[in-house]
Amino acid sequence: MKVYFILLIVLVTILSAIYGAPSKGSTKASLIKKKSCAKDCGEVYKPICAGDANKNISFGSECVLSNYNCENQKDLKVISEGECPGGGGVRLA
Ligand SMILES: *[C@@H]1O[C@H](CO)[C@@H](O)[C@H](O)[C@H]1NC(C)=O
Repeated sequence: MKVYFILLIVLVTILSAIYGAPSKGSTKASLIKKKSCAKDCGEVYKPICAGDANKNISFGSECVLSNYNCENQKDLKVISEGECPGGGGVRLA
């Protein structure tokens, strides 16, 4: 009988750890979301020029561009292959 009581306590503790503390849970979810933004783009160097109405930025590859859009919640579109005219540097990560 006592064993069942202990088991019950353990079970409740585990369940509340999983389902309880919603703030902790959402923190974890946002961490996961952030992490999934940062794809490993490897060493690929295939520069592109992308931008929106406000500015054009050169990226080392489309992979880097999609990380940038994801992290900054932007939706820059590819304008042309190669770096943007006018320099300004190339984002590599
Ligand atoms: C971005 O590049 C396009 C194509 O070269 C150009 O037409 C546009 O004016 C540029 N935009 C800015 C904000 O520099």
